[in-house]
Amino acid sequence: MKLLEERIRQEGLILSDTVLKVDSFLNHQVDTQLALEIGREFGRIFAGETITKVLTIEASGIQFAMAAGIALNVPFIYAKKKKAVTLAEQVYSAPVHSFTRQETYQVSISQKYLGPNDKVLIVDDFLATGAALVGLVDIVKEAGAELVGVGCVIEKSFQEGRGLLEQRGVRVHSLARIASMSPGEVHFVEEEST
Ligand code: G4P
Ligand code: NA
Ligand code: NA
Repeated sequence: MKLLEERIRQEGLILSDTVLKVDSFLNHQVDTQLALEIGREFGRIFAGETITKVLTIEASGIQFAMAAGIALNVPFIYAKKKKAVTLAEQVYSAPVHSFTRQETYQVSISQKYLGPNDKVLIVDDFLATGAALVGLVDIVKEAGAELVGVGCVIEKSFQEGRGLLEQRGVRVHSLARIASMSPGEVHFVEEEST
């Protein structure tokens, strides 16, 4: 997605060879029109599929899952990272190891909102190590739902996330794929920049 690649070049702050900060338009302050366009792009990519729910994980996947849900005209669900007291009902849950925070946490969703009749598109802001996304894939499996695919806004292709998902037979589409980066420069993977 050219528009997204341009914004990353203009506004992305590359903090190291592995960490990209996009706080001015994606991750902290959110460009709402860009978020909606990202949703429409996911809608175009998965137009040939039947999708009944979009699934993401709090916090920074929410705006893109909502945008995709609007484009596909279906609800979105965001998995919670802490078991809330209000989530007293039966839940599906999976452990996620955060490499950046060096801790393992549970992600969970209520069993009320996902089941064997659902066809699910998972959406997230970053595909990095894939830990959180693999957790969501496991939740979809536990629910007996069908996983249509995973859509990510930014993929750091030099990290292992895509490989982990593909090993599980998951179709992955990312709107901007970063082949490599270092402070001051970013290189995108050429072919699949839809
Ligand atoms: P992931 O690939 O499954 O997302 O897992 P990973 O453990 O690698 O990433 C941990 C968190 O850091 C994730 O946020 C992920 O989106 C974020 N992240 C990974 N690489 C980058 C990066 O280069 N830049 C930015 N800005 N974020 C990155 P999270 O735990 O889901 O937290 P939240 O921010 O959504 O609340
Ligand atoms: Na995220
Ligand atoms: Na994040």
